[in-house]
Amino acid sequence: MRVTIVGCGYVGEALARLLGAQPQSHLTLTTTREQRRAELESLGNRVLVLKASDAPALQQALESADAAVLCMAPGGDRQVDAGVYAATYRSSITTVLELLPELPQLKQIVYTSSCGVYGDAAGGWVDECSPVVPRDAHAEVLVESERLLAQARSDQRRVCVLRLGAIYGPGRDLSRRFQALAGTTRPGDGQNHSHWIHRDDVAGAMAAALAGAWDQTVNVVDDQPWRVADLLDRICAAEELPPVHWSGPSADAPSLPDRRISNRRLHSLGYPLLHPTAHYG
Ligand SMILES: NC(=O)c1ccc[n+]([C@@H]2O[C@H](COP(=O)([O-])OP(=O)(O)OC[C@H]3O[C@@H](n4cnc5c(N)ncnc54)[C@H](OP(=O)(O)O)[C@@H]3O)[C@@H](O)[C@H]2O)c1
Repeated sequence: MRVTIVGCGYVGEALARLLGAQPQSHLTLTTTREQRRAELESLGNRVLVLKASDAPALQQALESADAAVLCMAPGGDRQVDAGVYAATYRSSITTVLELLPELPQLKQIVYTSSCGVYGDAAGGWVDECSPVVPRDAHAEVLVESERLLAQARSDQRRVCVLRLGAIYGPGRDLSRRFQALAGTTRPGDGQNHSHWIHRDDVAGAMAAALAGAWDQTVNVVDDQPWRVADLLDRICAAEELPPVHWSGPSADAPSLPDRRISNRRLHSLGYPLLHPTAHYG
């Protein structure tokens, strides 16, 4: 299978390693930075330096692909403002849509969205059939991107949207990320649920989507939603650090959506999680 990975960053690289180990895969990988070319060349057959909003460059990347995996992101795991977010996702997906008439061989698009599209459910369960309720400008961009990309679906072309939980793994481990909060007082009560997925399960689910020709939206989260306060308690205890304190519910505390996100569809599609619960030690 000829696959183009648009935005070969943290999870794109993991997917490239997985697919590269399969015989007969032909990989085109993209980055926005010339200085990453050398490291990516060892993972794929072709590396292109481009922004996905550059139509001629993107066409070159996709012109012989059977499948495109869109996992571009602005800023890695750093938060960027909603304008930059919109510029990356909206312009990239709009460009893909414009190019589709020239890409009759492209049979599948896999896109990494986020569970951030779900709104509050007072701690109840939500699944892929639940309404999306963007709570901020970032989530609005994600919802709009999913809606735009749905236009690419046809009798000849499948579209799979993977709604990812927060990604952790090598280089992005949970302990290091949260240690700085030890001993501090945080707003709210920390009782809302967080959802995690290991990088290798993101790559595994993307590979399964390609191999299984998935044509739907699938939540990609592990089996255990964590209340934020519980997770931080465990991390601080494991690292022998003072616990995080919570200021308690108040009008000033940000009201975060609380819902538990079901991964039943991921399981029913036969994907076996490598990391069913987040490692924090
Ligand atoms: N991180 C999370 O916890 C999380 C949670 C939910 C969903 N997601 C989604 O998961 C996907 C992958 O995330 P990641 O952590 O692997 O991101 P990442 O490490 O930041 O990689 C992003 C890749 O996109 C490339 N890129 C940036 N702007 C681009 C543009 N305009 N056009 C084309 N490529 C562009 C980057 O180029 P360079 O190689 O030059 O850096 C990089 O290769 C993203 O779609 C993200 O929204 C992530």
